[in-house]
Amino acid sequence: MHKTRNDIAANARKSVSALLNARLADLIDLQLALKHAHWNVKGPNFIALHEMFDAMTDSYDAHVDDMAERITALGGTAMGSVQAVEKATSLAPFPADVFDGMKLVEALAERTAALAKSVRKGIDETAEMGDADAADILTALSRQLDKNLWFLEAHLQKG
Ligand SMILES: [Fe+2]
Repeated sequence: MHKTRNDIAANARKSVSALLNARLADLIDLQLALKHAHWNVKGPNFIALHEMFDAMTDSYDAHVDDMAERITALGGTAMGSVQAVEKATSLAPFPADVFDGMKLVEALAERTAALAKSVRKGIDETAEMGDADAADILTALSRQLDKNLWFLEAHLQKG
């Protein structure tokens, strides 16, 4: 941890940084999965899904940056390399042999829901650690994940 004049206790800053880095890895992993789906989706809903997957990727950009910069503001190191993400992600590996639109939507819904769950847990944990700002960043991400999960699940529901 780097030295800082930030008044949050060093052990709390360290714990919050570790938690944010874990969720940062998950979110970057999810963005890469969305791009993979954007490029490779096939089927009658191609253009709608191609565009939706890209919009979802973009919807996370500001959240990735906010999380990473909160880590550095706390004196931590934002672990954003693909090697670090690969090591730290808690999401299930994204399948490379799925092309069907609805199957991709399902795979993305599963991962979006898994991340939404751990981010929701992280809101309470960072608040308990004494970092309301990290909790706020995770709360904003939580809203975005829940919205995107709704978009994905609406494709899977039959009427
Ligand atoms: Fe594109």
